[in-house]
Parts: sequence; C-alpha cells; structure tokens
Amino acid sequence: MTKSSSRIPRFFEKKIEERLHILKNFSDLNSDDLILLKQTLVQGDAHLYASMIENTVSVMPVPLGIATNFVINGKDYLIPMAIEEPSVIAGASFAAKLARSLGGFTSSCSSSIMIGIIQLVGVSDNEAAIQAIDSHKSELIVFAHAKDPVLIQQGGGIRDFSYHTYQTDRGDMLVVRIHVDVQDAMGANIVNTFAEAVASRITDLVKVRSCLRIVSNLAMQRMCRSLAVWPTHDLGQDIVDGILDAVALARVDPYRCVTHNKGIMNGIDAVALATGNDFRALEAGAHGYAAFSGSYQPLTKFYQNGGGDLVGEIELPLAVGTVGGAVKSNPVAQLALKILGVQSASELACVMAAVGLAQNFAALRALVGEGIQRGHMRLHSKNIAIQAGVPFSLVDEIAQQMIGENAISVGRALELWKDKQ
Ligand code: MEV
Repeated sequence: MTKSSSRIPRFFEKKIEERLHILKNFSDLNSDDLILLKQTLVQGDAHLYASMIENTVSVMPVPLGIATNFVINGKDYLIPMAIEEPSVIAGASFAAKLARSLGGFTSSCSSSIMIGIIQLVGVSDNEAAIQAIDSHKSELIVFAHAKDPVLIQQGGGIRDFSYHTYQTDRGDMLVVRIHVDVQDAMGANIVNTFAEAVASRITDLVKVRSCLRIVSNLAMQRMCRSLAVWPTHDLGQDIVDGILDAVALARVDPYRCVTHNKGIMNGIDAVALATGNDFRALEAGAHGYAAFSGSYQPLTKFYQNGGGDLVGEIELPLAVGTVGGAVKSNPVAQLALKILGVQSASELACVMAAVGLAQNFAALRALVGEGIQRGHMRLHSKNIAIQAGVPFSLVDEIAQQMIGENAISVGRALELWKDKQ
C-alpha cells in the first residue's frame, strides 16, 4: 500500500478494522485518532452503520436536542431535532411558546402522492405513443404493483399517469409521470421500482428508448401548510413591522430570500435528520417549490390580522416517511418518532411544517430585534472554553465572563481558567 494512492481496490469489501488501518497509513492518523473513530462507532452499532452505507469507518455524532412548547393541531409535542448549529432549538421553542397563547400551530398536508418520471426519447409520434401507453395503463399498473405487494395491501400504489412533451436541445422528448400513493413511506424507493417496471413495459409497447426512470423530489402532491398567530402585545409593533419589512425584502431580493428559506430549513432538516429522513430530498423540493413561479420566493408569508396580531403561514412540499429506509433501520430515528408520538407520515410532515414556520419566525424576530449574535455567542463562548481545555465544571462560568467582557477567545479562556486555579 503506497501512502499517496487513493486507488484502493475492493475497499468496500474490507472489514472496518482494515479500512481504519488503510486510513491510518494514508492520513498519518495516530492512535488517539483511531480510538476516536472506533469509539464513536462502538457507541452505535457497527453492523448497522456498515450496512447503511458503503465504506463505513465511523459515525459522525450530531447533537440531538428537544424543542419544547409546541402545540400543533391541538396536540402537545416534544420535537427531537438533530443539528450542530446553536440557537436553532432555542429559537423554535421560543417561537412555539409565544404562539401557544393563541392556539399554537394549525398544520395540514395534501396527500401521500409522489411523482416518478419516465423519460422517453426518440418518439416519432407523441400523440400515438401517449394513446398506446394510456390504453394499456391498467395492465402496466398491475405489472408494476406486483413488485411491491405490501404497499398495495396497505392501500398504496400507482393512482394515475400523466404525459408531458418537451422540446429539448437533444430533440423532442415524452415524459410519463407516474403518480404513486406511497402511504407512510418517503417513497423514493417505491417510486423508482415502479418507474423502472413501467418503463420496461412501455418500451415493449412503443418503439422508444427509455432514459431516466426516477422519483421527482418536487413533491407537489405532498404539499404541507402551517399557520400560527403571535400576539402583537408580546412582540411590540416595532418587531411586527420589522418582520413584515424583512419578508417584503425576501420577496424581491433572492440574496435575502435564500437565507430566509435557509432559516426555515434549519428546523425542518433537523427534524428530518433526527427521524432518519432524507433532508437532501426535502431541501431540493423546498427550493424547487420556492422557485416554481419562475422567481425565487419565500416559503412563508406574514401579515397582521384584524386584531393586529401577527399571522405566519408556511407552504412547501414535504416528502417524509415514518416507515422504511433509515427511518426503520436506525434505532435513534425510531426513538425520535416515539418521542414525537406521530402516527403517520402526514402527521410528521405537519410537525415539520410547524417547526419550519416557528424557526423562520424566531430568526426574523431576533434579526429585527437584538440580532442573532447574542444567542449564538452564549453557546459559541462555551465551545471556545471547551476548546481551551477548561474543565466542564468551569465552562459556564468562564463562558459567561468572556461574554461580559466581550472578549471570546481561547487565549482569554485560558487566562480566566488560570486565574481560578
Ligand atoms: C442561520 O442559520 C439562519 C438565519 O440566517 C435565517 C435568516 O436570516 O432568516 C438566521
């Protein structure tokens, strides 16, 4: 093994110990580095993590926290969130606390339909191809359904096809969209299986070549909404005006709007990660929806109601599952679902929409008020003290002192610690 080559044949077949040995040589790891990698893995379940992805060597720990105070559709929730960023969980909990007095969050989701696309190229006559496919629709669906009888028993399955023609720089293309009720799954695997099955039959029926057969993460038939009202007498009219001004800017300036939506996704992704859901899919869907009108827009809106209170609303596609994939195999994700107490994927999506709205409200309130750095600094200063090697029993005290002095650095933490010795 030469240290400098990343070409490692059959790395994926090697045991974790062997992979670590290779890493040690390649990256000059010392024995402490190896212990760290091994310990984080042992704390979890090595076999589980090795079966989830390829080439596993360890686990990347991310803190799991609980957002409190949420009432959604009249039910109280404690919400697990996995995230490395300070202030997110505090912000969500604070927004939920303020919203409680006026009933909390009202959330709803449209359906559990995911879309899969089958791209057909080399179609000489679109109309004839569509007719041929459509007249065999039932037969194609029966063929595909045989690939996942469990979903069909549970009431899911392909609900319909739709047809879309495109002129591209590689010629005309026909896309068949399959609309699949995935029930409580996120659904990507189910949709991909069905898309491949349907495509294999279509190419027998029509003289075309199928190219892509894949789920769309623009889950426009899994739209979720949430609404909450925050009392203006708690916030003050200045804060309300500030929030309305901030959202008005997001509507016209994409440089602001992306960060506005990023704040929303801070909350949604954290619940997704805690529950073993695919946060990349949610991100893709959310930003795709934000840009769907042709101009990138905020996923939330805010306005004052007749009584002068601040109403926030969010709307975005949320393709999440409570069964299948990492949700099922990761015991921490299962536990997170137990803590949440959700009974279905749509209930989970309702919670996520509420968290996204709460997160956005909290960020905007802090931004137009005292700024977000004060909250961040509390945890940041603790991190700095820990980095300086300050014992845990003194971390809070030294962090507090550094904030008071407005001097947060490893050097200052060391000095303050020395003073206490
Ligand atoms: C930071 O992760 C998120 C915020 O930037 C969101 C926003 O600006 O609305 C605070």
